[in-house]
Amino acid sequence: MIRNDVTAAIAQRRSIRKYTAKPVTDEQLETILECGTLAPSGMNLQQWFVAAVRDPALLKEISALQKEAVLAMPDLPPVMLERAKDPAFDATFGAPVVLIVTAEGSRGSMDACLLGENMVLAAQSLGLGTCISGSVTMAFQGEKGTALLKKLGVPEGYAPVFGITLGEAAEAPEDKPREKKYAII
Ligand SMILES: Cc1cc2nc3c(=O)[nH]c(=O)nc-3n(C[C@H](O)[C@H](O)[C@H](O)COP(=O)(O)O)c2cc1C
Repeated sequence: MIRNDVTAAIAQRRSIRKYTAKPVTDEQLETILECGTLAPSGMNLQQWFVAAVRDPALLKEISALQKEAVLAMPDLPPVMLERAKDPAFDATFGAPVVLIVTAEGSRGSMDACLLGENMVLAAQSLGLGTCISGSVTMAFQGEKGTALLKKLGVPEGYAPVFGITLGEAAEAPEDKPREKKYAII
């Protein structure tokens, strides 16, 4: 692989599920959010909205609602149910920031994915860890979840696509194996 700053950030990124309490600075957060909005989007419609949550009370509420939603679905994998029952388990891994990535419509979801990866790689380049979390979106189901989305300033018509936990990594996971699922024709 040709190595430069961009390919190094791509190669070195890992999903981080343990964070230190060190805050993410305003400058770091703004850089990450701006890099997100520099992503391509269909017809440049930018059908995304990101709520960057760092208020500890709101982070707690997101985790509590996610765990409540998991416990309401007994058919989920036992590992998820066990963690949701554990009062010490934080569904956002103790990260000081959680980015709730939302989108308008199904086309907006594609835009949101590209914005998300831009933010993840920008964070990596700044020495910060991230983990995309599909399961965090469970916090936004039902009436309480809708009310929480409003509290986060998410515009009407926008739905959560995934979350991104963000902060200083407190673990250094091994890289996960990848298959070569491509062809050069
Ligand atoms: C759409 C999507 C949803 C994910 N949801 C979760 C999740 O809910 N919880 C979690 O711990 N990791 C989640 N991940 C992280 C993946 O488990 C991780 O990217 C994968 O195992 C590869 O590991 P790596 O990111 O360290 O290379 C998600 C990743 C993606 C792309």
